[in-house]
Amino acid sequence: MVEFGRELAEKRGLAVEFIQADATATGLPDRSFDLVHARTLLLNVQNPQQIVAEMVRIAKPGGVVAVQEPDAAAWSCDPPHPGFDILREAIVSGYRRTGKDFNIGRRIARLLRDAGLHDVRVRATARVTRSGEYYQTFLLAIAGLVREVIVEAGDLTADEFDSYAAALRAHLEAPHTITCQPIMWQAWGRARGSTVTA
Ligand SMILES: C[S@@+](CC[C@H](N)C(=O)[O-])C[C@H]1O[C@@H](n2cnc3c(N)ncnc32)[C@H](O)[C@@H]1O
Repeated sequence: MVEFGRELAEKRGLAVEFIQADATATGLPDRSFDLVHARTLLLNVQNPQQIVAEMVRIAKPGGVVAVQEPDAAAWSCDPPHPGFDILREAIVSGYRRTGKDFNIGRRIARLLRDAGLHDVRVRATARVTRSGEYYQTFLLAIAGLVREVIVEAGDLTADEFDSYAAALRAHLEAPHTITCQPIMWQAWGRARGSTVTA
């Protein structure tokens, strides 16, 4: 991910400094950034509050902390397909089983408020896709990442998983199948304190 970022920055001629660190303890100085942002990070950790606290710590007084996270509530396809619903529920349960929350998007505004930010705002959008678009088969990509957790927990056997996934792939590749992707929630707020000095 860092290497990808470096290549992109170079290609676009951007002067960006990259560091690699645990987001709960970045080692960056207190109150030092105008904007602190994380995207699709909090759903993948068991301690989102600690990461938000770290983001608030490094934001300047009056600086913005912004996060963007998903919520499976709208994740669907039309025409409907049983494999879509079964794999979506297996993903959400698989995340829950490992102490993570795929639906964390709906509570990010609260996480920011509880971390002491003020003027917290929120919005939510969902993308619609059709065959040939990258996100059309996104559910299959995520299901593949948690396949072992799903099978080990006994939600589906390996054969059931694979046969739902194969049937669903064919359905998603059909010309008239559309999907609604997970809702992406965005929330942002300001760190307390003033940048104005007397
Ligand atoms: C779904 S990816 C999102 C990447 C990128 N933010 C984006 O939106 O494309 C989640 C990333 O979070 C990273 N990650 C997970 N836990 C982390 C932690 N405690 N500290 C720093 N990074 C972490 C993973 O290595 C992975 O690169």
